[in-house]
Amino acid sequence: MKNIYIDDGSTGIKLAWKDGNGDVKTALTNNTFKKELSPPTGESQVYNYRCTGEDFSFSPMSTSIVMTNNVQWQYSAANAVAIQHALQQSGLEPQPIHALVTLPLSEFYDHNNQPNLVNIEKKKASVAQAVEVLGGKAFIIEKVSVSPESIPAAVAKVSELTDLDALLVVDLGGTTLDVSLIQGETASLVKVEGNASIGASAVTREVDQALRAVNGQSSWRIADAIVKNRHNNEFIAARLFKEEDLPTIREALDKSIVSLSNATTDFLTRFSGFTHVAVVGGGASLVADRVKESLKISDKRFFVSNDPQFDLVRGMLYISGE
Ligand SMILES: Nc1ncnc2c1ncn2[C@@H]1O[C@H](COP(=O)(O)OP(=O)(O)OP(=O)(O)O)[C@@H](O)[C@H]1O
Ligand SMILES: [Mg+2]
Repeated sequence: MKNIYIDDGSTGIKLAWKDGNGDVKTALTNNTFKKELSPPTGESQVYNYRCTGEDFSFSPMSTSIVMTNNVQWQYSAANAVAIQHALQQSGLEPQPIHALVTLPLSEFYDHNNQPNLVNIEKKKASVAQAVEVLGGKAFIIEKVSVSPESIPAAVAKVSELTDLDALLVVDLGGTTLDVSLIQGETASLVKVEGNASIGASAVTREVDQALRAVNGQSSWRIADAIVKNRHNNEFIAARLFKEEDLPTIREALDKSIVSLSNATTDFLTRFSGFTHVAVVGGGASLVADRVKESLKISDKRFFVSNDPQFDLVRGMLYISGE
């Protein structure tokens, strides 16, 4: 049975697995689903799913998306469908798999920082729900394992630290900021805190609204592409009906990045006693410079990877020793 490592975040599903040559492969799909089936158009492929009697279709251009940014989503049919869709898009043959998934820290641990077995079992049952792929063959999830978010993302760093060091892991996802303080060497958890109202999608939302104001229309997908290509004015201008609206979009970007950075650094004042800092998650590049500056951490002790959105899922695979 193939092991597939799955970071089922609220805005996107990140997958990692090893191919036949032992090389690590990754894939990303966005959670843009409609709660209805899409008719086949003959032009582009449609992805229709059914789970526990509910219909879903993948809808990349959709403006009305199933909201995936609340905790209940972690245990929902929509989540099982999003995972199935990511598997369908991975290029792998549908087959029985062992799904290794994550839960936000606030769900994985109870108030005494012990694993919350009720939530973990609930998550296992949710991910294992059968999903029907209309007109296709489904992956069968035969086994589910659950890890806490954020910690695996930094585990490669922790192993380089001594017991006198402590690493602050700042995971800025689409909708949640999850922060954990990890003791060096043993990788034991000292403190975790999350804030479900700080997320990188705030920037996408501002750009989406600015686009709607200047173009009269927008889509989450285009707004998201602009955020990812925010240093490329030519790319942004090509998405505008009138090029002279570029400053409006730039202002939306710059302002929302500053307020996201401020919200992040404010939240981090709750933590102390760390010697090293890692910023991970899809939003890392938006706030990393401000975080480093405000925490006064030197380059040598500050980690941001080239592809921070995949740090968690790659870390899960790394820890497994597979
Ligand atoms: N290169 C990039 N530059 C800026 N933002 C990015 C980049 N890549 C991804 N993002 C943003 O990161 C967010 C997604 O990050 P990530 O996949 O870590 O979130 P998630 O795990 O789905 O969410 P959460 O952890 O909050 O449940 C989106 O808001 C996306 O716009
Ligand atoms: Mg995440």
